Amino acid sequence: MSEIVDDIKFIDEEGKRIDGRRVDEMRPLKIEAGVLKRADGSAYLEWGDNKVMAAVYGPRECHPRHMQNPSRAIIQCRYNMMSFSVSDRKRPGPDRRSIEISKIISEALENVVFTENFPRTSIDVYIEVLQANAGTRVAGLTAASVALADAGIPMRDLVPAVAVGKADGHIILDLNGKEDNFGSADLPIAMIPRTGEVLLMQMDGHMTMEELDLALSYAKKACQEIYDIQRDALHRRYASQAGTEDDNDDDDDLPDEEA
Ligand code: CDP
Repeated sequence: MSEIVDDIKFIDEEGKRIDGRRVDEMRPLKIEAGVLKRADGSAYLEWGDNKVMAAVYGPRECHPRHMQNPSRAIIQCRYNMMSFSVSDRKRPGPDRRSIEISKIISEALENVVFTENFPRTSIDVYIEVLQANAGTRVAGLTAASVALADAGIPMRDLVPAVAVGKADGHIILDLNGKEDNFGSADLPIAMIPRTGEVLLMQMDGHMTMEELDLALSYAKKACQEIYDIQRDALHRRYASQAGTEDDNDDDDDLPDEEA
């Protein structure tokens, strides 16, 4: 990373950010469900400059067998960044960061999937980051929960997630690459809007209690927005399967079940 960072002004006189957004404005988000024929469920997401694919397999017999849980399914997530997804070539294969992100996403999803319905099985979730520009863990989790629903796996709810942060002393929603790298705080959150339940919360940097309250209120509003986009992706997916919409020529062999 070869940028001079000292004189970045994150918020201008009009209260606008470097990409023109307001402090509480999200980057554009698009989600498409059911994009891969070979996976049991899948979702593709574009969020600002992030491009993320999620694929779900299972529930299927858990291997190695010693990892089986006799009373429930385990969720095994693998978050991976493509070498070409970032500006400096990323060395292929797992690293500490991707192992950590895989773990926190698995744990968030375990809290919504009815894992007790599928003892001894594994639900495998693959997240591939094709292009990264901050917030890929929340983008990955948002896509993964749509892919799980697309696979017909029973869940309590979808899991929308977003990062809130701080730059120039302002709380800002959905950090972009510069804000994430050179801002003063990053707070990824996953929240079920219906209940306000928090499934993921991490903190990098510092915030006062007042700032945290404001950050949580931004996150809550954004999670509702993301949730509506997730639901819409699933509606479009199943509307096209039922033949009530003709802008999707996907004609695969998935069962006619509800998500
Ligand atoms: O992506 P997220 O914000 O969830 O995680 P992060 O660890 O805070 O990484 C922030 C951003 O740094 C990523 O989204 C990438 O854009 C960038 N990054 C990178 O350029 N090279 C890496 N090896 C890892 C991250």
